[in-house]
Amino acid sequence: MILDTMKRRRSVRRYTGEAIPGDVTEEILKAGLLAPSSRNLKPCYFYVVNDRQLLAQLAAAKKAGGAFLKDASMAIVVCADETKADTWTEDCSIALTYMDLAAAERGIGSCWVQIHLRKDADGNDAEANVRRILHLGDTMRIAGILSLGMTDAYPAPHEESETDRIIRL
Ligand SMILES: Cc1cc2nc3c(=O)[nH]c(=O)nc-3n(C[C@H](O)[C@H](O)[C@H](O)COP(=O)(O)O)c2cc1C
Repeated sequence: MILDTMKRRRSVRRYTGEAIPGDVTEEILKAGLLAPSSRNLKPCYFYVVNDRQLLAQLAAAKKAGGAFLKDASMAIVVCADETKADTWTEDCSIALTYMDLAAAERGIGSCWVQIHLRKDADGNDAEANVRRILHLGDTMRIAGILSLGMTDAYPAPHEESETDRIIRL
């Protein structure tokens, strides 16, 4: 059930190095394809990265919060052509979330790595870095990267205690 998966889902940044089964990878990617998009324009693209050198380069694409990508089994770079949809951030974010949940459903460790609006250690734009690493065109915007790997230490679920963030009028 989707609600059970939502309750269990956590960000996982440490991986065992064991390969993710191919059929699970396909399920996760299909979840991204199934995500809704504004006006059904489907502007998102999913770049699947398994190559260790590319993973290491992506890990350095921004200053902090992405180093664990170098130890991931794979990464899915979620991007969109901004000329196709002005809602590219929303569309990519939903697709990334769908894939994050699909990974959690299958017990695969995953974590969102923010790229849009972030900089690398030298102050360069993280999006420009990823465009260069993957040879993407200038109109391709990169919302984030989903880091994926097998884990033997999935964190405990959150407490559902912050009900004061719900404002009932
Ligand atoms: C928009 C967004 C951007 C995020 N960017 C990063 C990131 O760059 N690096 C990272 O380690 N975690 C990142 N996260 C994961 C959050 O840190 C994490 O979801 C939050 O701390 C709550 O923990 P949980 O996912 O285990 O519930 C991001 C999450 C979201 C939704």
